[in-house]
Amino acid sequence: MPGRGWLIVFEGIDGTGKSTQCQEMESYLKNIKIPVALFREPTDGIWGQKIRKILAVGRGDVTREEELSWFIKDRQEDVKKNLLPALNLNKVVLLDRYYYSTAAYQGALGLDPKEILRENKNFAPVPDRTYIFKAPTEECLSRIESSRESHSSFEKLDYLNQVQKIFDSFDENHIKRIISSGTIKDIHTQLCEDVHQLIGI
Ligand code: TYD
Repeated sequence: MPGRGWLIVFEGIDGTGKSTQCQEMESYLKNIKIPVALFREPTDGIWGQKIRKILAVGRGDVTREEELSWFIKDRQEDVKKNLLPALNLNKVVLLDRYYYSTAAYQGALGLDPKEILRENKNFAPVPDRTYIFKAPTEECLSRIESSRESHSSFEKLDYLNQVQKIFDSFDENHIKRIISSGTIKDIHTQLCEDVHQLIGI
């Protein structure tokens, strides 16, 4: 888009390799001298810190509505402080998780995913490209388990299956589904081709 950078979002449940691909893309674009910025949500801001606490110790008596409002406040801060300034500098902005995660994860708690998307689109820019990574939920869970000492209440099989179902339901032009069964290198190559096409270089 002229006069504005590109917003490229990496989504999917944990253990699909999306964060690795996001970082690989950052290095690749830096190497070929494309101005790039990488951010992730939840952020390290005040709302992000509150969120990380419930990720670590469980939801306790935090209601799902409160949880949703923290993710939204965190994103409002991210849009204002990080995303819009970087886009205004015409950068390629890589974002590890965005509002599709909120619709899928908080939607899986019983809130309405469509309503969550609507609320987010009121203030957050629509991505130019969204990659939704997918791998069998059981595989993702065993990867998470082998790489971490403990896993959070966000990482239980039934819940993740429901999250996956909601990710599967999104249908917008900028969404591309990435099946995480190839090697890291193969998927990276596939994403590079797509990014070149998208940004026209
Ligand atoms: P992430 O940073 O990807 O995980 P980690 O730091 O453990 O690698 O995301 C943390 C968790 O937050 C992840 O389980 C998904 C969840 N999440 C939501 O529930 N809603 C949201 O809107 C976002 C952005 C993340």
